[in-house]
Amino acid sequence: MAKPNIYIGLMSGTSMDSVDAVAIDFQNGHIQMLGNHSHPIPDRLKQDILALCQPGLDNVDLYGHTDRALGDLFSAATLALMEKTNINTEQIIAIGSHGQTIRHQPPGTSHGFTLQIGDPNIIAIKTKCAVVADFRRADMALGGQGAPLVPAFHHHYFAEPSKHRIILNIGGIANITILKNNNCSGFDTGPGNLLLDSWCLKNTGQPFDDKGAWGDTGNLSRPLVDKLKLHPFFKLKPPKSTGRETFNASWLEQQLTGHTLLAKDIQASLIAFSAETISEAIARTGEPVDDILVCGGGAFNTSLITALKKNITLCGQPKVSSTIALGIDPKWVEACAFAWLAKRRIELKPANIPSVTGASRATVLGALYHF
Ligand SMILES: Nc1ncnc2c1ncn2[C@@H]1O[C@H](COP(=O)(O)OP(=O)(O)OP(=O)(O)O)[C@@H](O)[C@H]1O
Ligand SMILES: [Mg+2]
Repeated sequence: MAKPNIYIGLMSGTSMDSVDAVAIDFQNGHIQMLGNHSHPIPDRLKQDILALCQPGLDNVDLYGHTDRALGDLFSAATLALMEKTNINTEQIIAIGSHGQTIRHQPPGTSHGFTLQIGDPNIIAIKTKCAVVADFRRADMALGGQGAPLVPAFHHHYFAEPSKHRIILNIGGIANITILKNNNCSGFDTGPGNLLLDSWCLKNTGQPFDDKGAWGDTGNLSRPLVDKLKLHPFFKLKPPKSTGRETFNASWLEQQLTGHTLLAKDIQASLIAFSAETISEAIARTGEPVDDILVCGGGAFNTSLITALKKNITLCGQPKVSSTIALGIDPKWVEACAFAWLAKRRIELKPANIPSVTGASRATVLGALYHF
């Protein structure tokens, strides 16, 4: 029997749009994607996760039930991927499961904590595969933010030594990886799609604004965009990370007080808010950038990318394209990163980058679950 050669990556981010699953063969130093699958998250489960994301709601029963339900969902996503791609258990080295973040509280005045749920024991038992999970807490134990973790993967596969390159992941939250002269840094820039999705759902009933077409029909309100940009997160120096606790629908509602605007104008303002805070974060890194490669679902929001290109002149004249230019569809980059992080854990190689997270040293990330 041939040796197992496949890692599975499972990602469900802050957007809660779907569970993304990929099967990757990393042999020969390349990312060979053998298959991918996007698994829906049932509405009821989404409501439970959103409830658990509310600071102050400490319902241990709901936590326990949702942890199990997500374990089942991640197993189903993996089994569907295996069937679709015609892969069997014996071919898989391990599954890297990020889990669903229900709380991310970076270290500040007190110790930080971060919680990703979706019981890895269930995934291991149901898929009959080894599972790596709980990727963030070792970094936090070392004083780090526990996020972002994808820069190590970006550095490994996407760095181009002769170029000052930025990988921009626009998920619910946006984060950048700065690759230059073999160095790697990075941080969360603030909201990516999260506020766009929640405002769109509330006003149109659609879970996201396809290609940003609705937002495109509105006119941005400069006073509103400037007010949103006053949030203290944007003044923080890296290392920094953020999440739903900080940027969410109720924060947005508070900011809207005193503004009489059409819903579509607010959507246009939110597009500008994401685009400007991303560009300004890149500009603050201080040097002209050669190219910016975008991944995450935000890469499909034409209106957001157009706004980004308009503002990005703050950072020189970088070429802005998607990670398709590097051979990976932007939709799957994060899931690929967690397949690779599982590989690092199996090989007992460090995976956090202290200059990104602020941890006191590099360490092996993740815990291993057997079936
Ligand atoms: N065609 C599209 N038009 C506009 N926006 C899109 C489109 N496709 C995806 N998106 C946006 O991308 C989001 C999903 O992005 P993604 O899966 O990268 O984020 P995530 O799950 O929050 O991951 P993370 O926060 O970990 O990076 C959707 O919720 C939506 O806002
Ligand atoms: Mg997603």
